Amino acid sequence: MFGSILNMLNAFNVVQAASPKPRPRSQNTASQTMAITTVYDAQKSAKQLESVLAKGGEGSVYTLQGRSDVLVKLYHPEVLNKLQPQLQQKIAAMLNNKPQNEALLSWPLIDVYNQQQQWIGYAMHRKQGLKLQFLAHAVLYKKHFPHFNRRDIVQVLLSLIEQIQALHRQHIMIGDYNLNNFLCDPQSKTISLIDCDSYQCQLNQQFFACPVGSPDLTPPEHQNKSFREVKRNPQSEVFSLAIILFKCLMLGRHPYDMVNGEDPVSNMNSGRFAYGKGNQGIPKGDWYNIWSHMPYQLKSLFIRTFSEGALNPSLRPSLDDWHQVLSLYVKEMDKGWHEVAVRPPQPKKSDYRGSNSVS
Ligand SMILES: Nc1ncnc2c1ncn2[C@@H]1O[C@H](COP(=O)(O)OP(=O)(O)O)[C@@H](O)[C@H]1O
Ligand SMILES: [Mg+2]
Repeated sequence: MFGSILNMLNAFNVVQAASPKPRPRSQNTASQTMAITTVYDAQKSAKQLESVLAKGGEGSVYTLQGRSDVLVKLYHPEVLNKLQPQLQQKIAAMLNNKPQNEALLSWPLIDVYNQQQQWIGYAMHRKQGLKLQFLAHAVLYKKHFPHFNRRDIVQVLLSLIEQIQALHRQHIMIGDYNLNNFLCDPQSKTISLIDCDSYQCQLNQQFFACPVGSPDLTPPEHQNKSFREVKRNPQSEVFSLAIILFKCLMLGRHPYDMVNGEDPVSNMNSGRFAYGKGNQGIPKGDWYNIWSHMPYQLKSLFIRTFSEGALNPSLRPSLDDWHQVLSLYVKEMDKGWHEVAVRPPQPKKSDYRGSNSVS
């Protein structure tokens, strides 16, 4: 079953029928899960874990011996204790309903069990790429994306928007937006999505919430609520996405970070966006320069989203609006109409007629 991707997919069909019924876990399985080095599929075929690749908030991700293209995510025992049996049901539904853009998603592939046949996680394809966190960063972008200019950044963002458009067509919402969950291939400038198990899905007539999120990427209407009770929608998604877009274009700066202002979440909850109208609270320097060079249409989308759109979701631009304006931005950069430096040394002057300088 762990032998080849084809086998995995075949095996997954068997898993649907053969999976033991989800059952609540007891506390004493915690230490067993932590010590696990061998995992099993539904047919009790064993596979050795190799090493921990990363530890996340919900689980640990392992490499598998002999399969560099596959990873296994084992949920932390406390997460299983809290979220079972719904978690296993959600992953089973995801296994059974693969989205169309699966190639660029780390969608669950196979259920994974411990020796006692308790469900503990799933296997997935390993995705390559650099986290967008490294791009949306004043220092790290130079190290990880040394050849990137602003056109490259916008191309990456277009790829991200296209991924989300494909998910939305299938009524799947990302919910928990996080720069670390978007992996960028610097050559092709495509985005792969990881941590998909938290996505909000509507599968087999069942609703599965996205139970996690971070306040600084959550729209005001979903603040201070239990994420398990929240129902994300295209308008909430596009607000979170706009924060990601802004951060990637602005060296990691949060749109609601203000000089002499309150914290970003408080500013967000009152729709206080420093850029655009009056340019209040933007210090002279990189952020000021970058903002001044952005095309008017792009600035308008940010202003609409982060000012009036913060408290009125129906006023937010759509994914299609963002895609259209960013596509035009690329075309206009190609014509030399806009600064392409990631970090323009000067603000745009009133007599600016275009440049192709690269940072
Ligand atoms: N499919 C994947 N391909 C490559 N790396 C992955 C993949 N899935 C997870 N990772 C790595 O493991 C980390 C934790 O995984 P994630 O699913 O985000 O865990 P959690 O939901 O517990 O936060 C990620 O930040 C990433 O570094
Ligand atoms: Mg997660």
